[in-house]
Amino acid sequence: MAESKVKTIGVLTSGGDAPGMNAAIRAVVRTAIENGVTIKGINRGYAGLLDEDIIEMDSRSVSDTIQRGGTKLYTARCQEFMTSEGQDKGAEICRKHGIDGLVVIGGDGSFQGARQLAARGINTVGVPGTIDLDIACTDYTIGFDTAVNTAMDAIDKVRDTSTSHERVSIIEVMGRHAGYIALWSGIANGAEEILLPELQNYDEKKIVQHILARKALGKKHTIIVNAEGIGNSYRMADRIEAATGIETRATIIGHIQRGGSPSAKDRVYASAMGCMAVELLCEGKTNRVVAYKNGKFVDFDIEEALNMKKELDPFLLHVSRTI
Ligand code: ADP
Ligand code: F6P
Repeated sequence: MAESKVKTIGVLTSGGDAPGMNAAIRAVVRTAIENGVTIKGINRGYAGLLDEDIIEMDSRSVSDTIQRGGTKLYTARCQEFMTSEGQDKGAEICRKHGIDGLVVIGGDGSFQGARQLAARGINTVGVPGTIDLDIACTDYTIGFDTAVNTAMDAIDKVRDTSTSHERVSIIEVMGRHAGYIALWSGIANGAEEILLPELQNYDEKKIVQHILARKALGKKHTIIVNAEGIGNSYRMADRIEAATGIETRATIIGHIQRGGSPSAKDRVYASAMGCMAVELLCEGKTNRVVAYKNGKFVDFDIEEALNMKKELDPFLLHVSRTI
Protein backbone atom coordinates (compact mmCIF):
# COMPACT_ATOMS: atom_id res chain seq x y z
CA MET A 1 0.00 0.00 0.00
CA ALA A 2 1.44 3.40 -1.02
CA GLU A 3 1.93 5.89 1.80
CA SER A 4 -1.04 8.22 2.16
CA LYS A 5 -0.55 11.83 1.06
CA VAL A 6 -2.76 13.00 3.94
CA LYS A 7 -2.17 12.15 7.60
CA THR A 8 -5.47 13.07 9.24
CA ILE A 9 -8.89 12.99 7.60
CA GLY A 10 -11.90 14.79 9.02
CA VAL A 11 -15.44 13.78 8.07
CA LEU A 12 -18.65 15.77 8.40
CA THR A 13 -22.26 15.61 7.25
CA SER A 14 -23.96 18.83 6.16
CA GLY A 15 -27.36 20.04 4.91
CA GLY A 16 -30.42 17.77 5.07
CA ASP A 17 -29.72 14.30 6.45
CA ALA A 18 -30.33 11.20 4.36
CA PRO A 19 -30.57 7.47 5.09
CA GLY A 20 -27.19 5.93 4.27
CA MET A 21 -25.08 8.79 5.62
CA ASN A 22 -24.02 6.53 8.50
CA ALA A 23 -22.92 3.88 6.03
CA ALA A 24 -20.79 6.52 4.27
CA ILE A 25 -19.26 7.73 7.55
CA ARG A 26 -18.49 4.12 8.51
CA ALA A 27 -16.76 3.53 5.17
CA VAL A 28 -14.74 6.76 5.52
CA VAL A 29 -13.59 5.81 9.04
CA ARG A 30 -12.66 2.24 8.20
CA THR A 31 -10.94 3.08 4.87
CA ALA A 32 -8.89 5.78 6.59
CA ILE A 33 -7.78 3.33 9.29
CA GLU A 34 -6.97 0.73 6.65
CA ASN A 35 -4.69 3.31 5.01
CA GLY A 36 -2.93 4.21 8.28
CA VAL A 37 -4.62 7.63 8.40
CA THR A 38 -5.92 9.22 11.61
CA ILE A 39 -9.67 9.92 11.44
CA LYS A 40 -11.62 12.66 13.19
CA GLY A 41 -15.37 13.23 13.15
CA ILE A 42 -16.69 16.78 12.96
CA ASN A 43 -20.13 17.06 14.55
CA ARG A 44 -22.90 19.28 13.08
CA GLY A 45 -21.35 20.04 9.69
CA TYR A 46 -19.64 23.40 9.17
CA ALA A 47 -21.29 24.77 12.33
CA GLY A 48 -19.47 22.11 14.37
CA LEU A 49 -16.24 22.82 12.51
CA LEU A 50 -16.42 26.49 13.50
CA ASP A 51 -17.23 25.45 17.10
CA GLU A 52 -14.34 22.95 17.06
CA ASP A 53 -16.79 20.16 17.87
CA ILE A 54 -14.28 17.58 16.69
CA ILE A 55 -13.99 14.01 18.00
CA GLU A 56 -11.42 11.23 17.62
CA MET A 57 -12.85 8.20 15.85
CA ASP A 58 -11.76 4.60 15.55
CA SER A 59 -13.18 1.47 14.01
CA ARG A 60 -15.49 0.90 16.99
CA SER A 61 -16.96 4.42 16.75
CA VAL A 62 -18.91 3.26 13.72
CA SER A 63 -19.90 -0.22 14.91
CA ASP A 64 -23.58 -1.01 14.59
CA THR A 65 -24.32 2.02 12.41
CA ILE A 66 -24.62 0.79 8.81
CA GLN A 67 -28.30 -0.05 9.29
CA ARG A 68 -29.23 3.20 11.06
CA GLY A 69 -30.93 6.21 9.52
CA GLY A 70 -29.89 9.79 10.27
CA THR A 71 -26.27 10.73 10.81
CA LYS A 72 -24.32 9.90 13.93
CA LEU A 73 -22.23 13.05 13.31
CA TYR A 74 -25.39 15.21 13.31
CA THR A 75 -25.92 17.79 10.60
CA ALA A 76 -26.59 21.51 10.41
CA ARG A 77 -26.87 24.50 8.17
CA CYS A 78 -24.37 27.25 8.95
CA GLN A 79 -24.72 30.87 7.84
CA GLU A 80 -21.32 31.89 9.19
CA PHE A 81 -19.62 29.44 6.87
CA MET A 82 -21.10 31.25 3.86
CA THR A 83 -18.76 34.18 4.59
CA SER A 84 -15.09 34.26 3.62
CA GLU A 85 -14.20 35.01 7.27
CA GLY A 86 -16.06 31.86 8.31
CA GLN A 87 -14.27 29.84 5.63
CA ASP A 88 -10.84 31.22 6.69
CA LYS A 89 -11.68 30.28 10.28
CA GLY A 90 -12.78 26.78 9.18
CA ALA A 91 -9.49 26.18 7.32
CA GLU A 92 -7.49 27.45 10.32
CA ILE A 93 -9.38 25.09 12.65
CA CYS A 94 -8.67 22.16 10.32
CA ARG A 95 -4.96 23.03 10.43
CA LYS A 96 -5.03 23.43 14.22
CA HIS A 97 -6.45 19.89 14.53
CA GLY A 98 -4.01 18.47 11.97
CA ILE A 99 -6.83 17.80 9.50
CA ASP A 100 -5.18 17.90 6.06
CA GLY A 101 -7.96 15.94 4.31
CA LEU A 102 -11.72 16.38 4.64
CA VAL A 103 -14.69 14.35 3.44
CA VAL A 104 -17.88 16.41 3.14
CA ILE A 105 -21.08 14.36 2.87
CA GLY A 106 -23.95 16.56 1.69
CA GLY A 107 -25.51 18.34 -1.25
CA ASP A 108 -24.50 21.10 -3.66
CA GLY A 109 -24.43 23.75 -0.91
CA SER A 110 -22.08 21.65 1.18
CA PHE A 111 -19.84 21.15 -1.87
CA GLN A 112 -19.61 24.94 -2.26
CA GLY A 113 -18.23 24.99 1.27
CA ALA A 114 -15.82 22.14 0.48
CA ARG A 115 -14.57 24.08 -2.54
CA GLN A 116 -13.79 27.08 -0.32
CA LEU A 117 -11.78 24.91 2.07
CA ALA A 118 -9.90 23.35 -0.84
CA ALA A 119 -9.04 26.86 -2.05
CA ARG A 120 -7.61 27.47 1.43
CA GLY A 121 -5.28 24.46 1.29
CA ILE A 122 -7.37 21.72 2.92
CA ASN A 123 -7.67 18.71 0.62
CA THR A 124 -11.40 18.05 0.27
CA VAL A 125 -13.62 15.46 -1.37
CA GLY A 126 -17.43 15.66 -1.49
CA VAL A 127 -19.80 12.70 -1.26
CA PRO A 128 -23.34 13.30 -2.57
CA GLY A 129 -25.86 12.85 0.25
CA THR A 130 -29.43 14.05 -0.24
CA ILE A 131 -32.79 12.37 -0.64
CA ASP A 132 -33.61 14.87 -3.40
CA LEU A 133 -31.32 13.32 -6.09
CA ASP A 134 -30.70 16.86 -7.30
CA ILE A 135 -26.92 16.80 -7.79
CA ALA A 136 -26.15 17.12 -11.49
CA CYS A 137 -22.88 15.19 -11.72
CA THR A 138 -24.31 11.95 -10.35
CA ASP A 139 -27.12 9.52 -11.18
CA TYR A 140 -27.26 8.46 -7.52
CA THR A 141 -27.30 10.35 -4.22
CA ILE A 142 -27.22 8.76 -0.78
CA GLY A 143 -30.73 8.43 0.63
CA PHE A 144 -32.87 8.78 -2.48
CA ASP A 145 -33.51 5.06 -2.83
CA THR A 146 -34.71 4.70 0.77
CA ALA A 147 -36.75 7.91 0.63
CA VAL A 148 -38.55 7.01 -2.57
CA ASN A 149 -39.39 3.55 -1.21
CA THR A 150 -40.73 5.16 1.98
CA ALA A 151 -42.89 7.46 -0.15
CA MET A 152 -44.06 4.52 -2.26
CA ASP A 153 -45.13 2.50 0.80
CA ALA A 154 -47.01 5.49 2.22
CA ILE A 155 -48.80 6.17 -1.07
CA ASP A 156 -49.81 2.48 -1.36
CA LYS A 157 -51.49 2.83 2.03
CA VAL A 158 -53.26 6.04 1.13
CA ARG A 159 -54.43 4.42 -2.09
CA ASP A 160 -56.20 1.65 -0.13
CA THR A 161 -58.37 4.06 1.81
CA SER A 162 -58.77 6.39 -1.15
CA THR A 163 -60.19 3.52 -3.19
CA SER A 164 -62.51 2.37 -0.39
CA HIS A 165 -63.99 5.85 -0.05
CA GLU A 166 -63.89 6.68 -3.78
CA ARG A 167 -61.94 9.83 -3.05
CA VAL A 168 -59.34 12.01 -4.65
CA SER A 169 -56.06 11.87 -2.67
CA ILE A 170 -53.29 14.40 -2.91
CA ILE A 171 -50.05 13.08 -1.46
CA GLU A 172 -47.27 15.56 -0.91
CA VAL A 173 -43.74 14.18 -1.09
CA MET A 174 -40.49 16.02 -0.35
CA GLY A 175 -38.66 18.07 -2.94
CA ARG A 176 -38.77 21.82 -2.52
CA HIS A 177 -36.85 22.34 -5.75
CA ALA A 178 -36.52 18.83 -7.13
CA GLY A 179 -39.21 16.48 -8.39
CA TYR A 180 -37.33 13.17 -8.42
CA ILE A 181 -39.14 11.65 -5.43
CA ALA A 182 -42.45 12.78 -6.93
CA LEU A 183 -41.65 11.45 -10.39
CA TRP A 184 -40.39 8.08 -9.16
CA SER A 185 -43.13 7.52 -6.58
CA GLY A 186 -45.70 8.81 -9.08
CA ILE A 187 -44.66 6.13 -11.57
CA ALA A 188 -44.18 3.46 -8.88
CA ASN A 189 -47.67 4.10 -7.46
CA GLY A 190 -49.47 4.60 -10.76
CA ALA A 191 -50.52 8.15 -9.86
CA GLU A 192 -52.96 9.89 -12.20
CA GLU A 193 -51.21 13.26 -11.79
CA ILE A 194 -47.60 14.05 -10.86
CA LEU A 195 -46.87 17.68 -10.03
CA LEU A 196 -43.23 18.68 -10.43
CA PRO A 197 -41.44 21.89 -9.40
CA GLU A 198 -39.06 21.78 -12.39
CA LEU A 199 -41.99 21.87 -14.84
CA GLN A 200 -44.32 24.02 -12.75
CA ASN A 201 -46.96 21.81 -14.38
CA TYR A 202 -49.71 22.60 -11.92
CA ASP A 203 -52.84 23.50 -13.83
CA GLU A 204 -55.80 23.14 -11.49
CA LYS A 205 -58.43 23.55 -14.20
CA LYS A 206 -56.93 20.67 -16.21
CA ILE A 207 -56.68 18.47 -13.12
CA VAL A 208 -60.36 19.06 -12.36
CA GLN A 209 -61.29 18.24 -15.98
CA HIS A 210 -59.22 15.03 -15.83
CA ILE A 211 -60.84 13.95 -12.56
CA LEU A 212 -64.33 14.52 -13.93
CA ALA A 213 -63.51 12.77 -17.23
CA ARG A 214 -62.12 9.74 -15.37
CA LYS A 215 -65.17 9.68 -13.09
CA ALA A 216 -67.42 9.65 -16.17
CA LEU A 217 -65.49 6.58 -17.36
CA GLY A 218 -66.18 4.82 -14.05
CA LYS A 219 -62.87 5.43 -12.28
CA LYS A 220 -63.33 5.29 -8.53
CA HIS A 221 -60.43 7.31 -7.22
CA THR A 222 -57.58 9.63 -8.21
CA ILE A 223 -54.07 9.76 -6.81
CA ILE A 224 -52.21 13.05 -7.21
CA VAL A 225 -48.55 13.08 -6.19
CA ASN A 226 -47.51 16.61 -5.39
CA ALA A 227 -43.87 17.64 -4.87
CA GLU A 228 -43.50 19.93 -1.87
CA GLY A 229 -42.25 22.76 -4.10
CA ILE A 230 -45.60 23.15 -5.89
CA GLY A 231 -47.73 24.54 -3.08
CA ASN A 232 -50.08 23.88 -0.20
CA SER A 233 -51.71 20.46 -0.61
CA TYR A 234 -54.47 21.09 1.97
CA ARG A 235 -55.76 24.18 0.17
CA MET A 236 -55.40 22.38 -3.17
CA ALA A 237 -57.59 19.57 -1.76
CA ASP A 238 -60.29 22.04 -0.64
CA ARG A 239 -60.40 23.69 -4.06
CA ILE A 240 -60.47 20.39 -5.96
CA GLU A 241 -63.27 19.06 -3.74
CA ALA A 242 -65.28 22.24 -4.33
CA ALA A 243 -64.74 22.09 -8.10
CA THR A 244 -65.40 18.36 -8.59
CA GLY A 245 -67.87 17.57 -5.83
CA ILE A 246 -65.68 14.55 -4.95
CA GLU A 247 -64.32 14.20 -1.43
CA THR A 248 -60.65 15.09 -1.55
CA ARG A 249 -58.01 14.54 1.14
CA ALA A 250 -54.41 15.69 1.40
CA THR A 251 -51.61 13.75 3.08
CA ILE A 252 -48.18 15.25 3.66
CA ILE A 253 -45.64 12.48 4.14
CA GLY A 254 -42.99 14.92 5.38
CA HIS A 255 -39.81 14.07 7.25
CA ILE A 256 -40.65 10.36 7.47
CA GLN A 257 -38.96 10.32 4.04
CA ARG A 258 -35.68 11.49 5.54
CA GLY A 259 -35.47 8.79 8.20
CA GLY A 260 -35.50 5.04 8.57
CA SER A 261 -33.13 2.20 7.97
CA PRO A 262 -31.35 2.63 4.62
CA SER A 263 -32.11 0.27 1.74
CA ALA A 264 -29.49 -2.22 0.56
CA LYS A 265 -28.67 0.09 -2.36
CA ASP A 266 -28.14 3.07 -0.07
CA ARG A 267 -25.91 1.04 2.27
CA VAL A 268 -23.80 -0.40 -0.53
CA TYR A 269 -23.45 2.74 -2.68
CA ALA A 270 -22.78 4.95 0.36
CA SER A 271 -20.09 2.49 1.47
CA ALA A 272 -18.50 2.57 -1.99
CA MET A 273 -18.57 6.36 -2.12
CA GLY A 274 -17.13 6.79 1.38
CA CYS A 275 -14.33 4.34 0.57
CA MET A 276 -13.57 6.08 -2.73
CA ALA A 277 -13.50 9.55 -1.13
CA VAL A 278 -10.79 8.48 1.33
CA GLU A 279 -8.77 6.72 -1.36
CA LEU A 280 -8.81 9.91 -3.46
CA LEU A 281 -7.52 11.91 -0.48
CA CYS A 282 -4.84 9.31 0.20
CA GLU A 283 -3.69 9.69 -3.42
CA GLY A 284 -3.30 13.42 -2.82
CA LYS A 285 -6.41 14.51 -4.76
CA THR A 286 -8.40 17.55 -3.69
CA ASN A 287 -11.43 19.59 -4.77
CA ARG A 288 -13.14 16.45 -6.06
CA VAL A 289 -16.61 15.02 -5.72
CA VAL A 290 -17.47 11.33 -5.90
CA ALA A 291 -20.28 10.39 -8.28
CA TYR A 292 -22.06 7.44 -9.81
CA LYS A 293 -22.34 8.03 -13.55
CA ASN A 294 -23.32 5.68 -16.36
CA GLY A 295 -23.01 2.63 -14.12
CA LYS A 296 -19.62 3.48 -12.58
CA PHE A 297 -18.25 5.20 -9.49
CA VAL A 298 -16.18 8.13 -10.74
CA ASP A 299 -14.99 11.52 -9.50
CA PHE A 300 -15.25 15.06 -10.85
CA ASP A 301 -13.65 18.38 -10.13
CA ILE A 302 -16.03 20.17 -7.71
CA GLU A 303 -16.15 23.27 -9.91
CA GLU A 304 -17.04 21.21 -12.96
CA ALA A 305 -19.64 19.26 -10.95
CA LEU A 306 -21.29 22.41 -9.62
CA ASN A 307 -21.55 23.86 -13.12
CA MET A 308 -23.45 20.86 -14.47
CA LYS A 309 -27.22 21.21 -14.91
CA LYS A 310 -29.63 18.50 -13.88
CA GLU A 311 -32.94 17.97 -15.62
CA LEU A 312 -35.65 15.46 -14.89
CA ASP A 313 -35.01 12.34 -16.95
CA PRO A 314 -36.99 13.02 -20.17
CA PHE A 315 -37.62 9.33 -20.78
CA LEU A 316 -39.06 8.82 -17.28
CA LEU A 317 -41.25 11.87 -17.86
CA HIS A 318 -42.42 10.31 -21.10
CA VAL A 319 -43.14 7.03 -19.27
CA SER A 320 -45.13 8.84 -16.59
CA ARG A 321 -47.26 10.55 -19.24
CA THR A 322 -47.72 7.43 -21.33
CA ILE A 323 -48.90 5.00 -18.66
P1 ADP B 1 -27.05 20.91 0.83
O1 ADP B 1 -25.62 20.63 1.11
O2 ADP B 1 -27.93 19.74 1.12
O3 ADP B 1 -27.26 21.51 -0.55
P2 ADP B 1 -27.42 23.56 2.00
O4 ADP B 1 -27.57 24.23 0.69
O5 ADP B 1 -28.31 23.92 3.13
O6 ADP B 1 -27.56 21.98 1.90
O7 ADP B 1 -25.91 23.77 2.44
C1 ADP B 1 -25.41 23.22 3.64
C2 ADP B 1 -24.37 24.15 4.23
O8 ADP B 1 -23.27 24.28 3.33
C3 ADP B 1 -24.84 25.59 4.45
O9 ADP B 1 -25.55 25.76 5.64
C4 ADP B 1 -23.52 26.32 4.50
O10 ADP B 1 -22.89 26.17 5.75
C5 ADP B 1 -22.70 25.58 3.45
N1 ADP B 1 -22.80 26.31 2.18
C6 ADP B 1 -23.86 26.38 1.34
N2 ADP B 1 -23.61 27.19 0.29
C7 ADP B 1 -22.36 27.66 0.48
C8 ADP B 1 -21.53 28.57 -0.24
N3 ADP B 1 -21.92 29.15 -1.36
N4 ADP B 1 -20.28 28.81 0.26
C9 ADP B 1 -19.88 28.22 1.40
N5 ADP B 1 -20.61 27.38 2.12
C10 ADP B 1 -21.84 27.08 1.68
O1 F6P C 1 -33.39 16.85 2.29
C1 F6P C 1 -33.96 17.54 1.23
C2 F6P C 1 -35.20 18.22 1.66
O2 F6P C 1 -35.98 17.23 2.22
C3 F6P C 1 -36.01 18.97 0.65
O3 F6P C 1 -36.79 18.19 -0.19
C4 F6P C 1 -36.81 19.89 1.52
O4 F6P C 1 -37.21 21.01 0.83
C5 F6P C 1 -35.86 20.23 2.60
O5 F6P C 1 -34.93 19.16 2.67
C6 F6P C 1 -36.48 20.47 3.92
O6 F6P C 1 -35.50 20.45 4.91
P1 F6P C 1 -35.74 20.93 6.39
O7 F6P C 1 -37.10 20.54 6.78
O8 F6P C 1 -34.66 20.23 7.15
O9 F6P C 1 -35.52 22.40 6.36
